[in-house]
Amino acid sequence: QEDIFKNVVSHAKEYGFIFPSSEVYDGLSAVYDYAQNGVELKKNIREYWWKSMVQMNENIVGLDAAILMHPTTWKASGHVDAFNDPLIDNKDSKKRYRADVLVEEFAEKINQKAQKEIEKAKARFGDAFNEEEFITTNARVVEYLSKRKEILERLAKGMTDDLQDVKALIEELGIADPETGSKNWTDVKQFNLMFGTKLGASAESAMDLYLRPETAQGIFVNFLNVQKSGRMKVPFGIAQTGKAFRNEIVARQFIFRMREFEQMEMQFFVRPGEEMKWYHHWKDTRLKWHLSLGLGKENYRFHDHEKLAHYANAAADIEFNFPFGFKELEGIHSRTDFDLKAHEEYSGRKLQYFDPELNENYVPYVVETSVGLDRMFLAVFATSLKEETLEDGSTRTVLELPAVLAPTKAAVLPLVKKDGLPEISRKIIEDLKWDFNVAYDEKDAVGRRYRRQDALGTPFCITVDHQTLEDETVTIRHRDTMKQDRVKITELRGIIENEVSM
Ligand code: GAP
Repeated sequence: QEDIFKNVVSHAKEYGFIFPSSEVYDGLSAVYDYAQNGVELKKNIREYWWKSMVQMNENIVGLDAAILMHPTTWKASGHVDAFNDPLIDNKDSKKRYRADVLVEEFAEKINQKAQKEIEKAKARFGDAFNEEEFITTNARVVEYLSKRKEILERLAKGMTDDLQDVKALIEELGIADPETGSKNWTDVKQFNLMFGTKLGASAESAMDLYLRPETAQGIFVNFLNVQKSGRMKVPFGIAQTGKAFRNEIVARQFIFRMREFEQMEMQFFVRPGEEMKWYHHWKDTRLKWHLSLGLGKENYRFHDHEKLAHYANAAADIEFNFPFGFKELEGIHSRTDFDLKAHEEYSGRKLQYFDPELNENYVPYVVETSVGLDRMFLAVFATSLKEETLEDGSTRTVLELPAVLAPTKAAVLPLVKKDGLPEISRKIIEDLKWDFNVAYDEKDAVGRRYRRQDALGTPFCITVDHQTLEDETVTIRHRDTMKQDRVKITELRGIIENEVSM
């Protein structure tokens, strides 16, 4: 699995999808730049989301709120007081860790021991193996699993009641600094994840601001503006995509956890009391959206939260099977009227809706869907990257992106650089480029050009050869099957359209 992940990272760089930020200065940790092909793929994912959320729903409209917001926003939302990670320092190594992650990783190791026992027994007993019975009767496995459960329960309690209990747990378990082995820990401290900045020129009058840690608050504070100017009727939604910033401490795993990332969020405003109906509706709808990309049903699962954030009365994640296991891709949260009520309180302004059917004023309840664009990128990119062994024993690298998301839809390749073939190729491009992103390539043998387009995820290669001069036909090669058909130039648009349209 580690190898697969390394491949993903190096393919992304080699083929112009993702570069480390400011690489000439050795990069900036957990910050990345999207390169010439990455920016297209990312834009296509964003558009695919926007089309299904905004264009396809009469009662959902878009918004592009500013990244900088009045600082009281973050008081009201709870981010100033509660958007924290619990940190612990090792006194010897001076290294800093997330206390909860240290404990979770310890518990995971115990879990792996139990899984190993299960695998061993499975191999020994074969078909006769009953896993359910084994994990409740085998003394060693029972011990591992109950120990793990106990640790995680104590961690959860420590996180809500008293962080120093988490420190005590780390010491009791004998958890060592993963890099140096030292067990000399400081107390656990809360660390706020928001990036601060300043507005204004003089030191005295400058105002402390934050870079937004989520796009959602820009939607909440504009709720009434949008409702009134758009004459929106509850239930209705406001959708937004844009950058968010978090000073993440554990920033590993490439673009999975970044310090600057992009969210695609939608807040759906509903009548109080109807939120559970809409919560289930959006859970279903969002999973269907993911499945429509065809990355495989088995790669998704729901994780319903038992421990809820202070603002929520129900929450679930859609988890995806990333190269490092199942992890959160999207969150669906029933946020009650927490945010709008808080903004009413802190601003002194009413944020209420008059419901003409009920003849009543109220603060709507909110169901939120929130997906990370970069995480979507990683899910799509990593799952699509394949090493294939062909019939003749050779291998090819192919990026089997959903055609609708592919950066380039077709590459036009003159078989040779003479006899008028480049000119015909250019003419084909001139005609197609109004509708699709198309590329031209005349360098190297045509087989190598096909492989390069495979690695870039281009669904079609169009080859112009000498027969084209006679009958105005070309070959069109399909990326996944490598099948080639001879078709009329005039048919190209329809064939491409058929596969790549949203
Ligand atoms: N408004 C709700 C909210 O922000 P969240 O669970 O904190 O909820 C929503 O974030 C989504 O944003 C996550 O499911 C994830 O896809 C993405 N996300 C969060 N932090 C991220 C990070 N540091 N890097 C990349 N994506 C992140």
